[in-house]
Amino acid sequence: MDALKRAAALAAVDQVESGMVVGLGSGTTAAFAIQALGERVRQGRLRIVGVPTSYDTRTLAKACGIPLCDTIDIDRIDITIDGADEVDPAGNLIKGGGGAHVMEKLVAALARRFIVIVDESKLVPILGGRNYPVPVEVIAPALPFVTRCVQELGGKATIRNGSGKLGPVISDLGHPIVNVDFGPIADPLRLSRQLDSIPGVVGHGLFIGMCDQVIVGRSPAESPKVEVRPFPRTVRYSGGEWL
Ligand code: 5RP
Repeated sequence: MDALKRAAALAAVDQVESGMVVGLGSGTTAAFAIQALGERVRQGRLRIVGVPTSYDTRTLAKACGIPLCDTIDIDRIDITIDGADEVDPAGNLIKGGGGAHVMEKLVAALARRFIVIVDESKLVPILGGRNYPVPVEVIAPALPFVTRCVQELGGKATIRNGSGKLGPVISDLGHPIVNVDFGPIADPLRLSRQLDSIPGVVGHGLFIGMCDQVIVGRSPAESPKVEVRPFPRTVRYSGGEWL
Protein backbone atom coordinates (compact mmCIF):
# COMPACT_ATOMS: atom_id res chain seq x y z
CA MET A 1 0.00 0.00 0.00
CA ASP A 2 2.91 2.34 0.73
CA ALA A 3 3.96 2.35 -2.94
CA LEU A 4 0.45 3.44 -3.99
CA LYS A 5 0.35 6.17 -1.36
CA ARG A 6 3.80 7.41 -2.39
CA ALA A 7 2.84 7.47 -6.08
CA ALA A 8 -0.26 9.58 -5.36
CA ALA A 9 1.77 11.87 -3.08
CA LEU A 10 4.47 12.47 -5.72
CA ALA A 11 1.87 13.36 -8.36
CA ALA A 12 0.48 16.00 -5.99
CA VAL A 13 3.92 17.36 -5.09
CA ASP A 14 4.66 17.81 -8.81
CA GLN A 15 1.94 20.50 -8.82
CA VAL A 16 3.70 22.59 -6.17
CA GLU A 17 5.72 25.56 -7.44
CA SER A 18 8.28 27.83 -5.82
CA GLY A 19 6.78 30.73 -3.90
CA MET A 20 3.68 28.78 -2.87
CA VAL A 21 2.15 28.51 0.58
CA VAL A 22 1.35 24.81 0.95
CA GLY A 23 -1.14 23.25 3.39
CA LEU A 24 0.34 20.07 4.82
CA GLY A 25 -2.15 17.32 5.73
CA SER A 26 -1.77 14.63 8.36
CA GLY A 27 -1.46 10.85 8.18
CA THR A 28 0.73 8.31 6.45
CA THR A 29 -0.14 9.36 2.87
CA ALA A 30 0.38 13.05 3.56
CA ALA A 31 3.72 12.12 5.15
CA PHE A 32 4.97 10.85 1.78
CA ALA A 33 4.11 14.24 0.25
CA ILE A 34 5.85 16.11 3.09
CA GLN A 35 8.99 14.01 2.70
CA ALA A 36 9.04 14.63 -1.07
CA LEU A 37 8.49 18.38 -0.57
CA GLY A 38 11.28 18.44 2.02
CA GLU A 39 13.66 16.69 -0.35
CA ARG A 40 13.00 19.30 -3.05
CA VAL A 41 13.42 22.13 -0.54
CA ARG A 42 16.75 20.73 0.69
CA GLN A 43 17.97 20.31 -2.88
CA GLY A 44 17.14 23.98 -3.56
CA ARG A 45 14.57 23.00 -6.23
CA LEU A 46 11.60 24.40 -4.31
CA ARG A 47 11.04 27.42 -2.09
CA ILE A 48 7.80 27.07 -0.12
CA VAL A 49 6.22 27.78 3.23
CA GLY A 50 4.19 24.95 4.77
CA VAL A 51 1.10 25.23 6.97
CA PRO A 52 0.84 22.11 9.16
CA THR A 53 -2.47 20.55 10.22
CA SER A 54 -1.19 18.72 13.35
CA TYR A 55 1.72 18.52 15.77
CA ASP A 56 2.70 15.27 14.06
CA THR A 57 2.92 16.98 10.67
CA ARG A 58 4.70 19.99 12.16
CA THR A 59 7.40 17.74 13.61
CA LEU A 60 7.87 15.82 10.36
CA ALA A 61 7.89 18.95 8.17
CA LYS A 62 10.42 20.63 10.47
CA ALA A 63 12.67 17.58 10.35
CA CYS A 64 12.38 17.65 6.55
CA GLY A 65 13.56 21.28 6.46
CA ILE A 66 10.30 22.88 5.29
CA PRO A 67 9.85 26.47 6.60
CA LEU A 68 6.52 26.69 8.41
CA CYS A 69 3.89 29.21 9.41
CA ASP A 70 0.50 28.97 11.10
CA THR A 71 -3.03 29.63 9.90
CA ILE A 72 -3.09 32.79 12.02
CA ASP A 73 -0.18 34.21 9.98
CA ILE A 74 -1.75 33.92 6.53
CA ASP A 75 -4.89 34.85 4.59
CA ARG A 76 -4.62 32.23 1.91
CA ILE A 77 -2.94 28.96 0.97
CA ASP A 78 -2.06 28.10 -2.64
CA ILE A 79 -2.35 24.30 -2.46
CA THR A 80 -3.30 21.94 0.36
CA ILE A 81 -2.33 18.28 0.03
CA ASP A 82 -3.97 15.78 2.39
CA GLY A 83 -5.07 12.16 2.68
CA ALA A 84 -8.54 10.77 3.42
CA ASP A 85 -10.17 7.72 4.99
CA GLU A 86 -12.96 7.36 2.43
CA VAL A 87 -13.60 9.02 -0.95
CA ASP A 88 -16.92 8.71 -2.79
CA PRO A 89 -17.44 9.04 -6.58
CA ALA A 90 -18.32 12.77 -6.18
CA GLY A 91 -15.06 13.50 -4.33
CA ASN A 92 -16.71 13.78 -0.92
CA LEU A 93 -14.58 12.57 1.97
CA ILE A 94 -14.52 11.13 5.43
CA LYS A 95 -11.38 12.35 7.18
CA GLY A 96 -10.08 12.41 10.73
CA GLY A 97 -8.63 8.94 11.22
CA GLY A 98 -5.72 10.77 12.85
CA GLY A 99 -8.02 13.11 14.77
CA ALA A 100 -6.74 16.19 12.92
CA HIS A 101 -9.90 16.88 10.89
CA VAL A 102 -10.74 20.27 12.42
CA MET A 103 -7.40 21.80 11.45
CA GLU A 104 -7.44 19.84 8.18
CA LYS A 105 -10.80 21.37 7.22
CA LEU A 106 -9.57 24.86 8.04
CA VAL A 107 -6.39 24.42 6.01
CA ALA A 108 -8.42 22.94 3.12
CA ALA A 109 -10.91 25.82 3.25
CA LEU A 110 -8.09 28.38 3.14
CA ALA A 111 -6.61 26.78 0.01
CA ARG A 112 -7.16 27.89 -3.57
CA ARG A 113 -6.66 24.21 -4.51
CA PHE A 114 -7.30 21.21 -2.26
CA ILE A 115 -5.70 18.01 -3.52
CA VAL A 116 -6.57 14.70 -1.87
CA ILE A 117 -4.15 11.78 -2.15
CA VAL A 118 -5.24 8.21 -1.50
CA ASP A 119 -4.49 4.62 -2.37
CA GLU A 120 -7.28 2.76 -4.13
CA SER A 121 -8.51 1.07 -0.93
CA LYS A 122 -10.00 4.42 0.15
CA LEU A 123 -12.47 4.57 -2.76
CA VAL A 124 -16.05 3.73 -1.76
CA PRO A 125 -19.35 3.85 -3.66
CA ILE A 126 -21.00 5.60 -0.70
CA LEU A 127 -19.48 7.33 2.36
CA GLY A 128 -19.72 5.17 5.48
CA GLY A 129 -19.83 2.14 3.19
CA ARG A 130 -16.75 0.60 4.81
CA ASN A 131 -18.40 1.32 8.17
CA TYR A 132 -15.83 4.04 8.69
CA PRO A 133 -17.09 6.27 11.52
CA VAL A 134 -17.45 10.02 11.15
CA PRO A 135 -15.24 11.64 13.79
CA VAL A 136 -16.93 14.50 15.62
CA GLU A 137 -14.78 16.76 17.82
CA VAL A 138 -16.76 18.10 20.75
CA ILE A 139 -16.18 20.46 23.68
CA ALA A 140 -16.08 18.17 26.73
CA PRO A 141 -19.10 19.68 28.55
CA ALA A 142 -21.27 18.92 25.50
CA LEU A 143 -20.38 15.21 25.23
CA PRO A 144 -23.68 13.76 26.54
CA PHE A 145 -25.76 16.31 24.59
CA VAL A 146 -23.91 15.75 21.31
CA THR A 147 -24.08 11.98 21.81
CA ARG A 148 -27.88 12.22 22.11
CA CYS A 149 -28.11 14.50 19.05
CA VAL A 150 -26.08 12.20 16.78
CA GLN A 151 -28.12 9.20 17.99
CA GLU A 152 -31.27 11.08 16.93
CA LEU A 153 -29.62 11.48 13.51
CA GLY A 154 -29.23 7.69 13.31
CA GLY A 155 -25.59 7.39 14.43
CA LYS A 156 -23.98 5.07 16.97
CA ALA A 157 -21.55 7.14 19.04
CA THR A 158 -18.40 5.88 20.76
CA ILE A 159 -15.86 8.13 22.46
CA ARG A 160 -12.48 7.62 20.77
CA ASN A 161 -10.03 6.16 23.26
CA GLY A 162 -6.28 6.40 23.13
CA SER A 163 -3.58 3.80 23.02
CA GLY A 164 -0.76 4.65 25.41
CA LYS A 165 -3.25 6.60 27.52
CA LEU A 166 -6.29 5.57 29.52
CA GLY A 167 -9.57 7.20 28.52
CA PRO A 168 -10.43 9.54 25.66
CA VAL A 169 -8.11 10.82 22.98
CA ILE A 170 -7.74 14.58 23.31
CA SER A 171 -7.15 16.33 19.97
CA ASP A 172 -4.30 18.76 19.28
CA LEU A 173 -6.90 21.49 19.90
CA GLY A 174 -7.77 20.07 23.32
CA HIS A 175 -11.10 18.31 22.77
CA PRO A 176 -12.42 14.74 22.92
CA ILE A 177 -13.55 13.05 19.71
CA VAL A 178 -16.70 10.97 19.27
CA ASN A 179 -16.63 8.35 16.51
CA VAL A 180 -20.09 8.16 14.99
CA ASP A 181 -21.07 5.18 12.88
CA PHE A 182 -23.90 6.27 10.57
CA GLY A 183 -23.58 3.26 8.25
CA PRO A 184 -23.86 4.19 4.54
CA ILE A 185 -24.62 7.93 4.33
CA ALA A 186 -27.30 8.62 1.69
CA ASP A 187 -27.14 12.45 1.87
CA PRO A 188 -23.68 13.48 3.13
CA LEU A 189 -24.22 17.23 2.52
CA ARG A 190 -27.36 17.23 4.67
CA LEU A 191 -25.68 15.23 7.43
CA SER A 192 -22.67 17.54 7.31
CA ARG A 193 -24.89 20.61 7.80
CA GLN A 194 -26.83 18.86 10.59
CA LEU A 195 -23.59 18.08 12.45
CA ASP A 196 -22.34 21.65 11.88
CA SER A 197 -25.42 23.00 13.61
CA ILE A 198 -25.21 20.99 16.87
CA PRO A 199 -24.12 23.24 19.75
CA GLY A 200 -20.89 21.93 21.27
CA VAL A 201 -19.57 20.41 18.03
CA VAL A 202 -16.17 21.88 17.14
CA GLY A 203 -15.95 20.14 13.79
CA HIS A 204 -16.47 16.82 12.04
CA GLY A 205 -14.80 14.65 9.43
CA LEU A 206 -17.28 14.97 6.55
CA PHE A 207 -15.63 17.06 3.80
CA ILE A 208 -18.36 17.64 1.23
CA GLY A 209 -17.73 19.33 -2.13
CA MET A 210 -14.43 20.71 -0.89
CA CYS A 211 -11.74 19.06 -2.99
CA ASP A 212 -10.53 20.12 -6.42
CA GLN A 213 -8.67 16.95 -7.27
CA VAL A 214 -8.39 13.39 -5.98
CA ILE A 215 -5.22 11.53 -6.90
CA VAL A 216 -5.52 7.76 -6.56
CA GLY A 217 -2.52 5.44 -6.40
CA ARG A 218 -3.50 2.19 -8.12
CA SER A 219 -1.95 -1.27 -8.10
CA PRO A 220 0.25 -3.07 -8.99
CA ALA A 221 2.55 -2.01 -6.16
CA GLU A 222 5.68 -2.80 -8.22
CA SER A 223 4.72 -0.16 -10.80
CA PRO A 224 1.83 1.89 -9.41
CA LYS A 225 -0.43 3.85 -11.70
CA VAL A 226 -1.78 7.25 -10.81
CA GLU A 227 -5.33 8.30 -11.62
CA VAL A 228 -6.13 12.01 -11.39
CA ARG A 229 -9.80 12.84 -10.84
CA PRO A 230 -10.69 16.55 -11.13
CA PHE A 231 -13.76 17.84 -9.28
CA PRO A 232 -15.35 21.24 -9.52
CA ARG A 233 -15.27 22.43 -5.94
CA THR A 234 -18.95 22.95 -5.09
CA VAL A 235 -18.52 24.32 -1.60
CA ARG A 236 -16.53 27.33 -0.48
CA TYR A 237 -16.69 29.22 2.77
CA SER A 238 -17.42 32.81 1.87
CA GLY A 239 -19.12 35.81 3.42
CA GLY A 240 -19.97 33.99 6.64
CA GLU A 241 -21.46 30.79 5.23
CA TRP A 242 -20.72 27.68 3.21
CA LEU A 243 -21.82 28.40 -0.35
C1 5RP B 1 -6.00 12.52 9.71
C2 5RP B 1 -6.61 12.23 8.39
C3 5RP B 1 -5.81 11.41 7.42
O1 5RP B 1 -5.61 12.15 6.26
C4 5RP B 1 -6.60 10.16 7.11
O2 5RP B 1 -6.87 9.48 8.33
C5 5RP B 1 -5.83 9.24 6.18
O3 5RP B 1 -4.69 8.77 6.82
P1 5RP B 1 -3.68 7.76 6.11
O4 5RP B 1 -3.10 8.50 4.94
O5 5RP B 1 -2.67 7.44 7.18
O6 5RP B 1 -4.48 6.57 5.70
O7 5RP B 1 -7.71 12.64 8.06
O8 5RP B 1 -6.88 13.22 10.54
